[in-house]
Amino acid sequence: MSELAEKRILLGLTGGIAAYKAADLARGLIKQGAEVQVVMTDAACRFISPLTLQALTGKPVYTSMWDDRVGNGMPHIELSRDRDLIVVAPATADFMAKLVHGTADDLLATLCIARECPLMVAPAMNRQMWENPATRRNVKQLSSDGIIIEGPASGDQACGENGMGRMSEPDQIVESIVSWFQPKLLAGARILVTAGPTYEPIDAVRGITNLSSGRMGYAVARAAHEAGAKVTLISGRTGLQPPANVSVIDIITAQQMHDEVMERLSECDILIAVAAVADYRVSNREQHKIKKKAGAGLTLELEPNPDILGSVAAHKDGPFCVGFSAESQNIESHAAEKRRRKNIPLIAANLVQAAFGSEQNELILIDDEGAHRLPRSSKLQQARGLIRHITRLYKPGRKSVTAR
Ligand code: CTP
Repeated sequence: MSELAEKRILLGLTGGIAAYKAADLARGLIKQGAEVQVVMTDAACRFISPLTLQALTGKPVYTSMWDDRVGNGMPHIELSRDRDLIVVAPATADFMAKLVHGTADDLLATLCIARECPLMVAPAMNRQMWENPATRRNVKQLSSDGIIIEGPASGDQACGENGMGRMSEPDQIVESIVSWFQPKLLAGARILVTAGPTYEPIDAVRGITNLSSGRMGYAVARAAHEAGAKVTLISGRTGLQPPANVSVIDIITAQQMHDEVMERLSECDILIAVAAVADYRVSNREQHKIKKKAGAGLTLELEPNPDILGSVAAHKDGPFCVGFSAESQNIESHAAEKRRRKNIPLIAANLVQAAFGSEQNELILIDDEGAHRLPRSSKLQQARGLIRHITRLYKPGRKSVTAR
């Protein structure tokens, strides 16, 4: 899928060893449909040849303020106009310092100052340079100037040291750019997302859980954040890295998830319940590890857990509620029945066999109008499709519409 179709991106390279990764970044952006114009500093040209970037982008690479190939002889103006975004990757400590001070001593720095579009930088430097108080101050200043900072990441560095400062991987930068371009359809909305499995203890070391990986819920939280919402993710144990800029509340049991959701209801406009919540918990739970008794069976007594989504939907003046329904057969009819039973305006159904443990999914969205299928794609793309659908149904300040 071309996530950056018709986007015009200026890719700037400054002089760091991570410049070699910029070739992959240029390819990744082009693969997503972007039109990429490369500008390099002299120092960047010492690490990677402009010819490499020219071959990958199919366009001449600019390096000098005095390049007369552009129409009006002013590349710093002409190259920065009609751009949707400038991305400087890698961005050295020196280049970030220049941006802070408005220094305009080469083509890339000058066109950054002359730009009319947003600017993203992907810092790349040695860990000590990243931790240096001057760099810390500069990063803070760039953020408050509205410049988007992507990364850096932590790990092995070209100099042989290990720590924070290496440039984000090209795939991560592309993903971040795609996220940044998502329309802010839910700006200002407060969204609660439940995700992952719950775990119901049997004794001190054993419990009942399920195969939910949490990936769909995390993708929904991320897509909601990309759409401009303030997102709180209430999550069972997943081991996943939470999406950036989302508040995460970790829970273990269904009762804890219920309590955390209820506590936040008054500050919630939309609830998206993606979690695979255990319907029952063990009522004869043991404090200590149960010892086996040779030849004897063991009976667990189960009592129902609260239905989190059901209780929120029943709440007077509750948020707009979206449910999930994992089915192993008869997806549409089971999900439609669940939607009616829970009295929610929208339910997203999927086939468990196609979703659990997989990177992809295939949702069917069921609302008052009927069923809407999202073609099979990554969970993040499915989540974006779901968010777009929610924005069509959700009216700020409105109580959930009654499901038929
Ligand atoms: N849900 C919830 N609290 C529960 C159980 C489920 O909030 N105690 C939410 C899930 O997060 C999901 C939806 O309700 O959004 C699923 O509905 P449910 O009827 O519980 O689905 P299943 O557990 O799959 O139901 P069944 O066993 O009847 O198929």
